[in-house]
Amino acid sequence: PRQSREEFTGRWAFILAAIGSAVGLGNIWRFPYVAYENGGGAFVVPYLIALLTAGIPLLFFDYAIGHRFRGSAPLAFRRLNRWAEAIGWWQVLICVVIGIYYAAIIAWSIRYTGFSLTQEWGDDPEGFFNGTYLQVADAPQPSFDIVPGVFWPMLAVWVILILVMGFGIRRGVALASMIGIPLLIVMFLVLVVIALTLPGATQGLDALFTPNWAALAEPGVWIAAYGQIFFSLSVGFGIMITYASYLKKRTNLTGSGLVVGLSNSGFEILAGIGVFSALGFMAQASGVRVDEVVASGIGLAFVAFPTLISQAPMGALVGILFFGSLVIAGFTSLISILEVVVSAVKDKLGWGRWTTVLVVVGLSAVVSLALFSTTTGLYMLDTMDAFANNFGIVGAALMSVLVVTAVLGSARRIVAHLNAVSSFRVGGIFTLLIGVVMPLVLSYIWLSWIMETIRDGYGDYPGDFLGQYGWGLALGSVAFAVLLSLIPWSKKSNLYEEPVE
Ligand code: PHE
Ligand code: NA
Repeated sequence: PRQSREEFTGRWAFILAAIGSAVGLGNIWRFPYVAYENGGGAFVVPYLIALLTAGIPLLFFDYAIGHRFRGSAPLAFRRLNRWAEAIGWWQVLICVVIGIYYAAIIAWSIRYTGFSLTQEWGDDPEGFFNGTYLQVADAPQPSFDIVPGVFWPMLAVWVILILVMGFGIRRGVALASMIGIPLLIVMFLVLVVIALTLPGATQGLDALFTPNWAALAEPGVWIAAYGQIFFSLSVGFGIMITYASYLKKRTNLTGSGLVVGLSNSGFEILAGIGVFSALGFMAQASGVRVDEVVASGIGLAFVAFPTLISQAPMGALVGILFFGSLVIAGFTSLISILEVVVSAVKDKLGWGRWTTVLVVVGLSAVVSLALFSTTTGLYMLDTMDAFANNFGIVGAALMSVLVVTAVLGSARRIVAHLNAVSSFRVGGIFTLLIGVVMPLVLSYIWLSWIMETIRDGYGDYPGDFLGQYGWGLALGSVAFAVLLSLIPWSKKSNLYEEPVE
């Protein structure tokens, strides 16, 4: 018997789930810094160009594949062409890697929501984070010394994830974003308003928005803009294909894509304002220039913000709102990452949802806890994050556009499908962007990162560590994807289904 595919209740459930995926840690702790480092106010030019020439078109492309072929990434690619299935599995494996370390960051944020009240980092937040809290080992050699303060909140994240995902697309995945996203917006708005009223906020905003037009002549600034857009929109590695496969047959795809893309960028700008107001305050409080306190990623969240929380009026509230936002934004992204895996395994083996979730998410939980709740978790997280983003996401996006357009010549089918169901029609420019511009831009970014990393390594990690957790994982995932594509499909999955348009 054929399984009928789960569906979102409507277009807004899909839009909120897609925004839930897109709005994540990248908006809050990555965008403000990337914008500041790459031209400040002038960054708006490369950013908007990257959004319009790459982000939105790739979002439409992913939606069209998922919706036209109504399958998880491997099934959708398989229905497009027998030989394209491995691309889908590569995307699935990238999601596994990202998912297992994303859970750790959410767990730290949960813990830091509590620390915001006690402020037990005292006057040394950095020493507290690395030493007292994470108990980071001296050298990046894999250890299995579990850190309880990380282990327990991580376990909680995985248990909640299993429950939410087990309830399915309507009552789990979509519902989490329908509750989480409005809550996130309210919490974050309150945070931004508080940050704006802190003394020194305007200096921070000046530092962020003052345009450095000369930066536009540097290729690195353009690479940064394209990189931020790919990561931020969650395009190119299976997530939007998977979510679009749960849409009803007639759904306005391009209209939804525009809403998702603009909401994501809106949230980035909001985060830029909040984070730089806060940094402006910190600089003023310690009598230094803003550029001396600027930070991003883990350093921003777990070192700079604790410092700020100790100094600011209403610090505890700022902390709860900030780390609470990271938890919600991260969790709705994590759901979307794991749904790529769940839906692929479900399609391939013909299992039910609960069985698939228990096996897939349960196994991910075990690996995730073993690798990232230990004293060397931070080293592995940092390395895997770099390779997953720069090699994995960019590489998978490149393969998918290249194979679909250049190898299989299917660009016209994609356009036809988008226009058959959508309000906002796409045409020749879209085909040109997907078929020519995107492969060129993506190849350039991908190859330059690979060459640079072969030449200079990554961070200060020793060669054998990078060999295993960086290159080994990267190349291993490609080989494993090909193997998975050779496993036969469950009889329940119709590989040749051509849905009516
Ligand atoms: N798009 C998310 C962000 O901007 C990040 C993300 C990465 C989500 C990987 C899903 C998968 O933070
Ligand atoms: Na984002």
